[in-house]
Amino acid sequence: EQEETISVTFVSKDGEETQIRVPIGMSMLEAAHENDLELEGKNHDFFVGACEGSLACSTCHVIVMDMEYYNKLEDPTDEENDMLDLAFGLTETSRLGCQIVARPELDGIRLAIPAATRNFAVDGYVAKPH
Ligand code: FES
Repeated sequence: EQEETISVTFVSKDGEETQIRVPIGMSMLEAAHENDLELEGKNHDFFVGACEGSLACSTCHVIVMDMEYYNKLEDPTDEENDMLDLAFGLTETSRLGCQIVARPELDGIRLAIPAATRNFAVDGYVAKPH
């Protein structure tokens, strides 16, 4: 039997989109590592994932690009919110990539990685509900 996966798209600061398949139960940080994403180079903060998912950094900050998907995520824990507060260019739909775990209803989710976050912040980008 084939492992169940969902489609996840990572969006670089230049708007370059890379679509990958992520197995149910895997975090977005792990998935990015596993797929060797090169969107902003491997030394980019996001790909460092400095604390390896133990909620002790904010390097895995991502923006969920569609409010529809943001609303499908489990609410962030207090620990995640504390770390997000430290993230550069926080937006209404920011989350930590190590805390977003693939579930069937997230199929099609699009995530902007932190360099994009910065640009969007500068441009006044805020994801709006549809
Ligand atoms: Fe450190 Fe996600 S990798 S909080």
